[in-house]
Amino acid sequence: MINVNELTHDYGHGRGVFEVSFDVDKGETLGFLGPNGAGKSTTMRHLMGFSKPQSGSATIDGLDCTRQSSEIMKRVGYLPGEVALPDGLTGAGFLKMMNELRGGGIDRRAQELLERFKLDPSGSVKRMSIGEKRKLAVAAAFMGDPEILLLDEPTSGLDPIMQEEFISLIKEEKQRGRTVLLSSHIFAEVEALCDRIAIIKDGRLVSTVDAAEIRHGLNNIITVGFENEKDFAEFGNGSFDFRLRDRSSLKCSVVVDDSDINRFIKAIKRFAIRSFEEHSVTLEEYFMHFYKSNKTFGGVSYA
Ligand SMILES: Nc1ncnc2c1ncn2[C@@H]1O[C@H](COP(=O)(O)OP(=O)(O)OP(=O)(O)O)[C@@H](O)[C@H]1O
Ligand SMILES: [Mg+2]
Repeated sequence: MINVNELTHDYGHGRGVFEVSFDVDKGETLGFLGPNGAGKSTTMRHLMGFSKPQSGSATIDGLDCTRQSSEIMKRVGYLPGEVALPDGLTGAGFLKMMNELRGGGIDRRAQELLERFKLDPSGSVKRMSIGEKRKLAVAAAFMGDPEILLLDEPTSGLDPIMQEEFISLIKEEKQRGRTVLLSSHIFAEVEALCDRIAIIKDGRLVSTVDAAEIRHGLNNIITVGFENEKDFAEFGNGSFDFRLRDRSSLKCSVVVDDSDINRFIKAIKRFAIRSFEEHSVTLEEYFMHFYKSNKTFGGVSYA
């Protein structure tokens, strides 16, 4: 449904997006994750046709994001990362304007959302709080019940109750088969909503991972400390998926998934063991490592 192909826009000094490629299937929610300045909003702006790629291309449901951007504006619900609302309008006035831009006659959904998010649209947008502006932008993005949603840090600025409300809204939209691209820094949100996660850093896509795989594979790191070097070395030469073998502390960390647990227990029974720790790696730790170290999980040591 969304296709980004070698998208490149170089703003100089290493800034911008470089050869970014990914797809979002119909009905899928792709999380778009990466540190500040990584290129998430830039990619989304290109998808909406607000910026033109220097090379590469992007399409949404077959429509070219640059050449057919007015068509895309009608079809896609976009929640910008930074909401800039025109001064001198009321909330209702803004929604009316957006409604007209998107073809008109479609404001019932916006009305429902204003009620759901408890926002009175009669006040001037200039006087709205950050969260109120975000709520108005959410209503505008969902107006017309679009099949495709591009949501750039959708819950930033919302209070915890409204964040929860928003997460249930997206869950409902997922159930209705919507296609969603969602950028976020909130790992819990990504974990709750996304089917796959694309990781971007310094304008380049580093990897795309299956959310279920991460959740599963990361929960089973076991660190075993041995009494002596001989046992440490013998175990350390075995055929396990080692994350760490540290001779000074005589500790090995191993990824043990459910299918391998019996073999692992049999193996360690033969050795003199000083300590045993199960380390649950959360999605947050996984991504913090990535944010800090520019490495994917495979190369990271957990002591
Ligand atoms: N029009 C522009 N002119 C010059 N530089 C730009 C322009 N647009 C974006 N950039 C640069 O491109 C980089 C990516 O910015 P972008 O807003 O896409 O980051 P982001 O991943 O959305 O970050 P954040 O998490 O902070 O929202 C930044 O270094 C930014 O300064
Ligand atoms: Mg951004």
